[in-house]
Amino acid sequence: MIPQDQVNELVQKAIAARTRAYTPYSKFNVGAVVIDETGKEISGCNVENASYGLSMCAERTAIFKAVSEGSKTIETVVVVGDTDGPISPCGACRQVIAEFASDDFTLILANMAGDTKVMTKEEMLPYGFSPKDLT
Ligand code: THU
Repeated sequence: MIPQDQVNELVQKAIAARTRAYTPYSKFNVGAVVIDETGKEISGCNVENASYGLSMCAERTAIFKAVSEGSKTIETVVVVGDTDGPISPCGACRQVIAEFASDDFTLILANMAGDTKVMTKEEMLPYGFSPKDLT
């Protein structure tokens, strides 16, 4: 179990990433940080578009940045938004996170009030479709 002070430190980094969100349409800012298998931290924010369906969530921005820079697996994902409780990632993001999540993966969800929730890969996406199903 990840210590709470480490959770809080990572949430602060996701809050910093959130300041770069581009959200002229929803005005709902989200920040994310992923940590890969080497310990490298990569941040992301949501980036919206006038053609709304092209908008990208913060956590997928971070994952795609990481993979495109050479990350192979993801150990940790942190997501923060201004929600009542810890933010809940959309189904599309859960599927994308699951693609790269390591076996001991940790998902950290947070809000701006300091509430946090820590989840495993299975808790994030129960009975999810996995790359292993294709082999
Ligand atoms: N959003 C994220 O970036 N991550 C989430 O976990 C939930 C939703 C974004 C997508 C869109 O830019 C805005 O929040 C409103 O849905």
